[in-house]
Amino acid sequence: MNIRPRRNRKSKATRALLRETYLMPEQLVYPLFLEDGFNIKTEISSLPNNFRWSIDRLLPEIESCLELGLKSFILFPAIDQKLKNKTATYGYSDDNYYLKVCHKIKETFPESCLISDVALDPYNSDGHDGLVQNGKILNDETLPILGKMAVAQAQAGFDIIGPSDMMDGRVAFIRSALDQAGYSETSIMSYTAKYASAFYGPFRHALDSAPVESEDIPSDKKTYQMDPANKKEALREALLDYEEGADFMMVKPALNYLDIIHVLNENFDIPIAAYHVSGECAMLAAACKNGWLDFETAMPETLLSIHRAGAQIILTYFAKEYAQMWKEGKIVS
Ligand code: PBG
Repeated sequence: MNIRPRRNRKSKATRALLRETYLMPEQLVYPLFLEDGFNIKTEISSLPNNFRWSIDRLLPEIESCLELGLKSFILFPAIDQKLKNKTATYGYSDDNYYLKVCHKIKETFPESCLISDVALDPYNSDGHDGLVQNGKILNDETLPILGKMAVAQAQAGFDIIGPSDMMDGRVAFIRSALDQAGYSETSIMSYTAKYASAFYGPFRHALDSAPVESEDIPSDKKTYQMDPANKKEALREALLDYEEGADFMMVKPALNYLDIIHVLNENFDIPIAAYHVSGECAMLAAACKNGWLDFETAMPETLLSIHRAGAQIILTYFAKEYAQMWKEGKIVS
């Protein structure tokens, strides 16, 4: 035999030398859930090792992540029911604690990279990403609210704005709102191919942000999030976001959508991110808790597969654990 593929696998050193894909903590984004108040660190039951944080407890957490080389964070606010209304006005109000938390983090750790979430659902009493009227999610009427949210977030110091709402035309709308307000340096990470997935459950539970159950409010997000059956449509969404000025594009969820990550990465010359969403992380954590899978091998293999498929950036609730393992030299073997 001339050709023996096993020669390349014969030792730890050759495997490391010939490895095609490396994933570093710097390429991960750690989602953090926020709560207004003081001395709060409440574990999310369906997402072990993930918490709802108040700012005072969050700052040391961010410091420890930075020390591990984990520099990027995406922030999601839990909003008091009393502050929600039909038009999500708290989303861009000067009092919004989410904006204050961002400001405080950037002031304390200017080297961090903070990504925002732009959608109405945390602030909207209907629990939808857009305005709801007569049982419909309005598109064009939602855009100005998204624009205001994005400008308020840029002003608070967010480095990257993350529209997760899936309204048509929002990337262009937000880009021009940011530019007009003088924030031409603020980036946009677009949730380009965001599917109407069953895997967002723990996230909605963590933030209490699920669509409200009522006769005149749709109970799902299928009129704006994508049909899991569709792939060509992801290319169409991507072309729009690309032309509208997205700096990079995201696919969400990740594991069931590796083909979408691949096809976008092959077709576009901007970076592709993938959101390894709450339900995907919860499945793995649950199997590990039961002793059915080994966390320290299954978790890195999972993240690596998302990277290998074409995601340069991965948003994952395992970011800190991965960075910790990286530091301890447990990842490459
Ligand atoms: C809100 C938003 C959602 C997620 C991120 N931003 C929930 C949704 O669309 O219903 C889900 C993330 C996760 O499950 O980890 N627009």
